[in-house]
Amino acid sequence: MTSVSSSPSLHTSHLASQSAEGFADVLVGLQYGDEGKAKIIDALAPRYDVIARFNGGANAGHTIDTPSGRIALKQLPSGVFHPHATLYIGSGCALNPWKLANEIERLREMGISLEGRLHISARAALVQPHHIAMDRRGSGTIGTTGNGIGPCYADRAMRVRNDTRVNLMLGDLLKNEADTITSMRDVLTRMINAEGGTSPWIAEMSDMLLGLPKVTQTLRGYIEPDRGWLTDRVKDGANVLFEGAQSVLLDVVDGSQPYVTSSHTVPAYAYVGGDLSPKYHRRTIGVAKAIMSRVGRGPFPSELGGERSAQYCHGASQSHVGAAEEQVRYSPDELLRSNDPFDVGTALRMLTGEYGTGTGRPRRIGMLDLAQLREVIKAHAVDCVYLNKVDCLTHYFHSAYQGVPMRVHPDVLSSEVMPDVMIYPGLNERSLTLGREGTLDAAMHGFVDFVERHIGAPLAGIGLGPERASLISLAEHDPAPAVSASPHV
Ligand code: IMP
Repeated sequence: MTSVSSSPSLHTSHLASQSAEGFADVLVGLQYGDEGKAKIIDALAPRYDVIARFNGGANAGHTIDTPSGRIALKQLPSGVFHPHATLYIGSGCALNPWKLANEIERLREMGISLEGRLHISARAALVQPHHIAMDRRGSGTIGTTGNGIGPCYADRAMRVRNDTRVNLMLGDLLKNEADTITSMRDVLTRMINAEGGTSPWIAEMSDMLLGLPKVTQTLRGYIEPDRGWLTDRVKDGANVLFEGAQSVLLDVVDGSQPYVTSSHTVPAYAYVGGDLSPKYHRRTIGVAKAIMSRVGRGPFPSELGGERSAQYCHGASQSHVGAAEEQVRYSPDELLRSNDPFDVGTALRMLTGEYGTGTGRPRRIGMLDLAQLREVIKAHAVDCVYLNKVDCLTHYFHSAYQGVPMRVHPDVLSSEVMPDVMIYPGLNERSLTLGREGTLDAAMHGFVDFVERHIGAPLAGIGLGPERASLISLAEHDPAPAVSASPHV
């Protein structure tokens, strides 16, 4: 029987000797984002000294419930609530300074000070008002989050437009605030004039520029001009956990264009956008979820209801139909019993709360795609995987499937007739209850073995509920074991 513990064992990396160098692990989502990465980082954070972001910006996000209330964080790394952890935001990120200052202020009001704990690369790209305006106007085709991330990265590569520098960085606000704001205003004004001065967002964008000096004041103490800051920490023995935003399948090059985000989300990029040499890489940790989801457009091979589901969710997000509206319109228990996969997908969305964190958009729902996971894990040499939302698979027992439907890779099956989708019958509600209590029975053990065989990597843990204690660690696949190269664990 697999040995389990309800929380990963702790290592005292930050207490270790000062002499030896540290290492970095990279944690990434393996599907289409929203796999529950923050929850895993929350569990792993005590083992690391620094939690670092290396890509994306306010298009990511996680909501955290705290004793002082609920807070939605978009740009700060997930380790905020672990006071020992230092936080780093690397040069690969595209930052919205207004929203970042707001996150810092909200935390301060909750009694959490980031002073001395948060370091933001001065070379991180600055999201400017015209980026947000451009993204909102053109977001329909891809279904972007409208945060200006794509136009910001495009301007980073463009460098200069109409003789005006457009690749502004966070450090520019410190070096020359007045020129930086003038530059932003010039580009914005040119855009407003080109559109005949009728754009609905003019007042909002002008207000943003007016508020920028106050925002700079808030951020000033956190902006890190030293390019080697993280390297020096690691040389001094610090262990780093890189936290990927979005997911590997949304990578700007590796994903299915154009339905991707605009940054590199693959683990290798952690060492570019996170400002550290790959020499320090140790493990790649993947996070997936058993009820798959995707927001925005693009291919989703295991989508329940296929193109109909994609169309429905696109329409719903355009007309602002979210959880509340669906609850009024549909009965999830009835839909679950339908023979139509589209209905089952809708039911699963409602029963498992799959709506966008920031946008409230209904997420497209799919079966667990083991074939796809296998390819992603192989491509990025993922060492181990956390599988979230395994408890949610019980809903399938009440559906016409009467088991868990999963997409599987033909090569892994021994039979001559190779089905694309197979129904896994062996899991039951009792196994899940026992699992939550810390015991994996034969049925759950069988499920874990089945998944591992199909994805070609060990499961480090399974999520059996939303609470912290329901993340069951499969101890023999601990992603951060002590290694002889580092005395820090
Ligand atoms: P953008 O990143 O806002 O440009 O959006 C590009 C695509 O990535 C859209 O389909 C978004 O819905 C998707 N996307 C961006 N960030 C996330 C995320 O954090 N989770 C899931 N999907 C995301």
